[in-house]
Amino acid sequence: MFLQKIEKFLFDDSYYINSNFFYIRIYRWNPYLSLNPWFNIFPLKLLEVKQVMVLDLLFYIKNNYDSTLVFRRSCREGICGSCSMNINGFNSLACLESFNPKFSQFLTIYPLPHMLILKDLVCDLTNFYNQYRLIKPWLIQKETFNKKENLQSKVDRFVLDGLYECILCACCSASCPSYWWNYDKYLGPAILLQTYKWLIDSRDTAQKTRSSFLNNSLRLSKCHGITNCTKVCPKNLNPAQIINFLKYFSKI
Ligand code: SF4
Ligand code: SF4
Ligand code: FES
Repeated sequence: MFLQKIEKFLFDDSYYINSNFFYIRIYRWNPYLSLNPWFNIFPLKLLEVKQVMVLDLLFYIKNNYDSTLVFRRSCREGICGSCSMNINGFNSLACLESFNPKFSQFLTIYPLPHMLILKDLVCDLTNFYNQYRLIKPWLIQKETFNKKENLQSKVDRFVLDGLYECILCACCSASCPSYWWNYDKYLGPAILLQTYKWLIDSRDTAQKTRSSFLNNSLRLSKCHGITNCTKVCPKNLNPAQIINFLKYFSKI
């Protein structure tokens, strides 16, 4: 039924262009089929709705056209970071990105670029989380501190603004050319921003270990300051600037 719909439009250009339909092009790949990746084009018609969230569109397609379409999501409000994908050429969160067919008749959705794909829009984040584990993302304290409450002054707490909001969505790392080519050596903007958060937390006592970890091989030095990472961050953070602070800390 869906194929018939597409044919109808492909054979009549005027109808195709002037119609009230808009077209969603979605990258597909299934590891259980011996097929190369392909695109599905879904023609949809919006009646009353003027603007929709991309995540709602994906749900609509999954529920009405193709239940085999796979994508990650959880919170649907920009908190969990799981719905990151490439939307019209831009890494973003599907639940925060809106689409208005008034301004464009086409919407193209890929998985995050330069990641291994598990299925359709779901990429493999194993390397990303292994790198996260490497930076020891927890408070490290000397033994004597263990039984005390961790008090922090207002100023000490204030310096964590612009860092604690990171939801580890990987939009920034997947937009970084340096990370594309050196994902096995370079930590990438997301993990470096997290490293900095622990490094400057007044309650943490492992500054030396944390900065000497960064001085090793290409973990930090592969950033070339192109700032793609900052342009795409859906939480409006500035990983490129944080990396510069880290370089200063680590004397790179
Ligand atoms: S810095 Fe921004 S883009 Fe990068 S992981 Fe954190 S929230 Fe996502
Ligand atoms: S500034 Fe650094 S981390 Fe950000 S995109 Fe450029 S090379 Fe990657
Ligand atoms: S569903 Fe959680 S950030 Fe989009």
